[in-house]
Amino acid sequence: MSTYGSFPGSRPRRLRTTPVMRRMVAETRLHPADLVLPAFVREGIGAPVEIGAMPGVFQHTRDSLRKAAVEAVEAGVSGIMLYGVPEEAKKDGLGTAGTDPDGILQVALRDVRAEVGDDLIIMSDLCLDEFTDHGHCGVLDEQGRVDNDATLERYAEMAQVQADAGAHVLGPSGMMDGQIGVVRDALDQTGHEDVAMLAYTAKYSSAFYGPFREAVGSSLKGDRKTYQQDPGNAREALRELALDLEEGADMVMVKPAGPYLDILARVAEAADVPVAAYQISGEYAMIEAAAERGWIDRDKAILESLLGIKRAGAQMILTYWATEVARQL
Ligand code: PBG
Repeated sequence: MSTYGSFPGSRPRRLRTTPVMRRMVAETRLHPADLVLPAFVREGIGAPVEIGAMPGVFQHTRDSLRKAAVEAVEAGVSGIMLYGVPEEAKKDGLGTAGTDPDGILQVALRDVRAEVGDDLIIMSDLCLDEFTDHGHCGVLDEQGRVDNDATLERYAEMAQVQADAGAHVLGPSGMMDGQIGVVRDALDQTGHEDVAMLAYTAKYSSAFYGPFREAVGSSLKGDRKTYQQDPGNAREALRELALDLEEGADMVMVKPAGPYLDILARVAEAADVPVAAYQISGEYAMIEAAAERGWIDRDKAILESLLGIKRAGAQMILTYWATEVARQL
């Protein structure tokens, strides 16, 4: 017995019948140009070192980093975000290796710029945590608290050396108040008006950064709760957004991505600049670990995680799978 007539003709399943039909009506598509590859370069190693909690991701040598950059270009990836890992002995309270023109990050920026030129947007993490012996993103005052304004002075110096070394885009990630304005001024005063900023606008104090701390050999003992955002706060992200835009952010980012898709959607709605999301180390590790156990289909889970981030409003996605995924698209 037919039940036709008992409900109207709207049958969404008609548009799901074949792969080509589903492709035609897809609302969200991933493209290699959406992707940015975060990459680590470590000083003083003779061969790449795989990161234990991030299988398939390496601390690069200068040479292997150049190769990774070329592969990213060939795959159609838009950018690379570089993190420097200095020799342990070069860490100090002020993170001076981060502002040394011959520090590992600056050297690597010059290498990659020489290798790929303008074929890849070369982005530079602008933060002190990889270079300080206490592991904080800034410098400390006498009481051991992260000193906002003293840190800004260090960020201004970092901005200049990173731009001098060839970065196209700086990514201030330390969540200090005023960092975007100070970095913009520093760039403009040193002839780097064309260097752009990808502001880490909403950066949450997240347990999912765990594997990254191994990746950069972090010296951090405590946490970053006095500068990174509390996970329960959404409105606060919009306040950070307003400040970053006012201070001159060219692009804004939400980080982590997967657990913060609501924040991403709200930021994307409110921002009039390109919006990025960072699928961080812990998001990577969870999928890799579950796949290793045969609990999920790795490739499908990766694509779905990225599609969800794009659907929520990210135009650009930083992901450790960037080159691999770009090749498949
Ligand atoms: C700080 C920084 C962190 C990440 C990127 N930049 C770590 C932190 O805030 O502790 C995390 C990236 C990731 O987990 O993949 N410079």
